[in-house]
Amino acid sequence: MAQERIRVAVIGIGNCFSSLYQGFEYYRNSAGEHIPGVMHSDIGGYRAGDIEIVAAFDVDPRKVGRRVGEAIFSAPNCARVFQPEVPDGPVVQMGPVLDGVSDHMLQQPEEIGFRVADAAPVDVVRVLRESRADILLNYLPVGSQEATEYYAQCAIDAGVAFLNCIPVFIASNPVWEQKFIDAGLPLIGDDMRSQVGASVLSQVLQELAFDRGAEVEFHQQINIGGNTDFNNMMVQTRLESKKKSKENVIRSQNDIRNIPVPKDSLFAGPSTFIPYLRDNKVAYLNLRLKGFGGAPITMDVKLSVQDSENSAGVVIDAIRYLKVARELGVVGALRGPSAWTQKTPPEQMMYADAKFECEALARRELTSSVRRQVRGAEDATAS
Ligand SMILES: NC(=O)c1ccc[n+]([C@@H]2O[C@H](COP(=O)([O-])OP(=O)(O)OC[C@H]3O[C@@H](n4cnc5c(N)ncnc54)[C@H](O)[C@@H]3O)[C@@H](O)[C@H]2O)c1
Repeated sequence: MAQERIRVAVIGIGNCFSSLYQGFEYYRNSAGEHIPGVMHSDIGGYRAGDIEIVAAFDVDPRKVGRRVGEAIFSAPNCARVFQPEVPDGPVVQMGPVLDGVSDHMLQQPEEIGFRVADAAPVDVVRVLRESRADILLNYLPVGSQEATEYYAQCAIDAGVAFLNCIPVFIASNPVWEQKFIDAGLPLIGDDMRSQVGASVLSQVLQELAFDRGAEVEFHQQINIGGNTDFNNMMVQTRLESKKKSKENVIRSQNDIRNIPVPKDSLFAGPSTFIPYLRDNKVAYLNLRLKGFGGAPITMDVKLSVQDSENSAGVVIDAIRYLKVARELGVVGALRGPSAWTQKTPPEQMMYADAKFECEALARRELTSSVRRQVRGAEDATAS
């Protein structure tokens, strides 16, 4: 059984973190093997309630200087409040702004835009060290390339594992992965694949088509929503990596089977921002297949979710995979947990393979592929 709590520092006290923090309390005393809403009750001896937030960074004056338990309910956050009573937690500290906040978000009305506090940034490495964080969790807005790289380097300098929930490529970038290996640290990334979200749905439908011998002529995934993430993604220049990351999920099933992706056969991405929807994300999937004898098969699926709670459903597990991997001496990007919880992992896997790898780690078993990543193993490489 686990001996200690998991100490997590977080960047970005937005909607995703609001749902996750509420979830820690909601599930704190949950017992038993099956917990409704949570994929794994126990991961290597850790339960959802064993996670503790020890440091937090943001730049918005409505969050900086407040306790986490208050900041998560501050505008422009609009995630559903399902657990109003939460622990106060640490005070949110001012991070470096870098490219985290776009002009577009500054120009939006207060209730749906970002603002920047008039405060000097703290020394992030020092805060991480003093808080004795095990893991740094990245929830920055899409398009925060420079800021993500800055915080990833802070994690390395402070000796902290990194969980990269956004579409800036760190775990899937061999140069960045090597830096974590050299520092003897594990990481998971990049860009969350939500619990029952559009990505995993697209993946399993694409897998189903291929497993049943059908040809996929066209696969479309249109996403709309009304939270700040969708608002921020109205800036086309910030959107590029998100669209690539979403398409990676579908493309991966072709790559694994060596099936070429026909030209113009794929569209997956955020399409527009509709404030009325708030944290309700709606995805429209359309798949056009060719079956036996070339017979046309069409699928239309509408998926409606609470975007931020859906993301918290994977992060509550990813945190525990990282902690267990760290205790087992695994370094570099975790293949199975990244493929299971993220859209752009270092190695895409089929659904069942990623699940198998995660469940082995949850039992503290090292599969042969993970054994190569254990610190001190002769070939502890990114391969
Ligand atoms: N289902 C999902 O919601 C989902 C799925 C996959 C990926 N993601 C990604 O997760 C990230 C977080 O999503 P969200 O909905 O919580 O976003 P959000 O807009 O609600 O929150 C982002 C937070 O980051 C803060 N911030 C901006 N610049 C900063 C800086 N330099 N340092 C510290 N904080 C800074 C903002 O003030 C805000 O509080 C986004 O990149 C999103 O695309 C979300």
